[in-house]
Amino acid sequence: MTGTDALAIREMLVPDDVERVTALYRESANWHAQSWPDRFEVPLGEQFGIWQADGFVLVADADGEIVGMVSAEMVDGPAVWVGDVIVTAAARRNGVGELLMHAVEEWARQRGATHIGLQVYVDNGPARSLYGKLGYVDDHIKMRRTL
Ligand SMILES: CC(C)(COP(=O)(O)OP(=O)(O)OC[C@H]1O[C@@H](n2cnc3c(N)ncnc32)[C@H](O)[C@@H]1OP(=O)(O)O)[C@@H](O)C(=O)NCCC(=O)NCCS
Repeated sequence: MTGTDALAIREMLVPDDVERVTALYRESANWHAQSWPDRFEVPLGEQFGIWQADGFVLVADADGEIVGMVSAEMVDGPAVWVGDVIVTAAARRNGVGELLMHAVEEWARQRGATHIGLQVYVDNGPARSLYGKLGYVDDHIKMRRTL
């Protein structure tokens, strides 16, 4: 895939898109486990919690092929909390992630949200670059140590 011209950002259809969105989650879970074997295990199971009551999932549809997704929900603030942003490996660096994030921001604005929050691992370079490019700044830092 090159560019985003043939791409449609739309709400996930249930049940039609469930299998393909689950495949994206599985791919992301594998990628996380390879990148950070001390934090993640493979397989992660089948339940990924993508259908929250106040949440929604947008997918990037490239002519019938789902190449990316983002999940988000309204929280107090009013604000939007972004849960997962995933672009399939073959479609990365084409602007899909950026397009998905813009779509979430539009969704949030339409519902009166005043800001957007999300969580990212400090060493997830691609994701941090994406969020940084879009104007996200560090807020609070979660810490851990190995025992
Ligand atoms: C993070 C992720 C969603 C980015 O999706 P993407 O479609 O490749 O991102 P885009 O093509 O829209 O890139 C937009 C910007 O993000 C940054 N970026 C994205 N991937 C990058 C990479 N591998 N290295 C450096 N910067 C990167 C760049 O600033 C880029 O702008 P540019 O192309 O003008 O340089 C994708 O890499 C992914 O699915 N990763 C695995 C899942 C994950 O970690 N999700 C985030 C969890 S918090």
